[in-house]
Amino acid sequence: MSELGIIGGTGLTNLENLEILNREIVQTPYGEPSGPLTHGRLGGKEVLFLPRHGYGHTIPPHKVNYRANIYALRDAGARQIVAVAAVGGIRVDMLPGRIVVPDQIIDYTWSRVNTFFEEGLSHVTHIDFTEPYDAGLRQVLLASCRALDIDVVDGATYAATQGPRLETAAEIDRLERDGCDIVGMTGMPEAALARELELAYATLAVVANEAAGRSAQPLTMEMIEQNLNAGMAKVRRILAEAIPRL
Ligand code: HPA
Repeated sequence: MSELGIIGGTGLTNLENLEILNREIVQTPYGEPSGPLTHGRLGGKEVLFLPRHGYGHTIPPHKVNYRANIYALRDAGARQIVAVAAVGGIRVDMLPGRIVVPDQIIDYTWSRVNTFFEEGLSHVTHIDFTEPYDAGLRQVLLASCRALDIDVVDGATYAATQGPRLETAAEIDRLERDGCDIVGMTGMPEAALARELELAYATLAVVANEAAGRSAQPLTMEMIEQNLNAGMAKVRRILAEAIPRL
């Protein structure tokens, strides 16, 4: 059984260096995940891969079935999850292409199903979410970047926005005043759902663009995708380096 699940984000719908063993269509009590689970081998170990937005990148952030994705990975044996995420850079040094391993998150999403703990409960459950990311998994990702001489930011606050539109400049100013360094649309409820199922979860973020109002250039999908291609090449190397350390 593969203990590591990798959730791919925008720009990472496949892992070119993953040796694919098989694809498994799964159902969960929460509905269908974003696609079949890919069982593969990377860095000498078996891993599970699931692209958050589907293999054809067709599921927008607010429509992702986060519960089904997390449940399916856990059901298939995953005990640790590395979530890859494209983000906008808010802090001045969060420039396109940079790799960030966040340590905090603020949830600005709304109307997403955000818990497993809502029906048929024997008692109300509140998870401790003081530290939303797993410390050990974060350290493995950081050490892997350093071993590869890849520049990485250790610690940042991730703002999870609703999307699918990008933010206004004023919204980004507010997120900055709140203490956010990077912004993305998928960090929540994914991280909290993983904690509810007691999975170790950490995010490997790639800055795709300067956030709204932070650059003179208009934000386009083409620009975001171009920046991501370079960043995701680094992510593939980081994952291959990290997996044997897990
Ligand atoms: N905002 C929100 N999500 C994002 C961005 C952004 O600027 N870039 C990539 N994902």
